[in-house]
Amino acid sequence: MKDLRKNYTKDALLEANLPSQPFALFEEWFAAAVAEPLISEANAMVLSTVHNNAVDSRIVLLKDVRDSHFVFFTNYNSHKGKQLEENGNCTILFPWIAQERQVIVRGKATKISEQESSDYFDSRPKGSQIGAWVSEQSSEIGSREDLDANLDFYLKKFENTLIPKPNHWGGFEIKPVEIEFWQGRENRLHDRILYYVENEKWYFKRLQP
Ligand SMILES: Cc1cc2nc3c(=O)[nH]c(=O)nc-3n(C[C@H](O)[C@H](O)[C@H](O)COP(=O)(O)O)c2cc1C
Repeated sequence: MKDLRKNYTKDALLEANLPSQPFALFEEWFAAAVAEPLISEANAMVLSTVHNNAVDSRIVLLKDVRDSHFVFFTNYNSHKGKQLEENGNCTILFPWIAQERQVIVRGKATKISEQESSDYFDSRPKGSQIGAWVSEQSSEIGSREDLDANLDFYLKKFENTLIPKPNHWGGFEIKPVEIEFWQGRENRLHDRILYYVENEKWYFKRLQP
């Protein structure tokens, strides 16, 4: 491992080109990540939550950025769902390593409306809708066969009907207080621009690499 090292030379992040608020830059970087063939799921982000004064992390998929909030969907009874209900403070991190980029969003998560969750649920493929019923996410299950039996049960139950959204499934929206954009540069002297909110207004500053 010790000899795995790469020099970062792909781009630069300079104040002269920065928008006054971070969402325009996020949109630009997100579109570039989607267009990059070496990035398989540009909307995959590492979500870190607080659990008993410790940290928990896992990947989830970003599904929307709207009204200055980052939206993802999950099972509200999962570990992350319960952790966020208890303490909404969280971080999402986009590891766009193929572009020598990283974006870190720190903020607070709250549940979105049932209506918005249902609207998105209704747009999902049937298999994913069934999956939301089948899995009590993060709970122990005896075997793969038990899970497959649950699947058979719900496939029959919803054979000829529209599949409603389960109450335990829905979205969270994260309201950011800080967004850091990181662009790798030569000699480990990377560009780090931190956008932060003060009195509802965005500012940015440069951090040392
Ligand atoms: C690429 C990828 C995308 C994922 N997307 C989601 C997602 O959007 N929502 C979700 O609940 N879990 C998603 N997962 C699964 C989570 O990483 C995690 O295993 C699951 O949500 C249970 O997490 P928890 O026990 O910490 O609540 C994804 C995993 C991967 C690897």
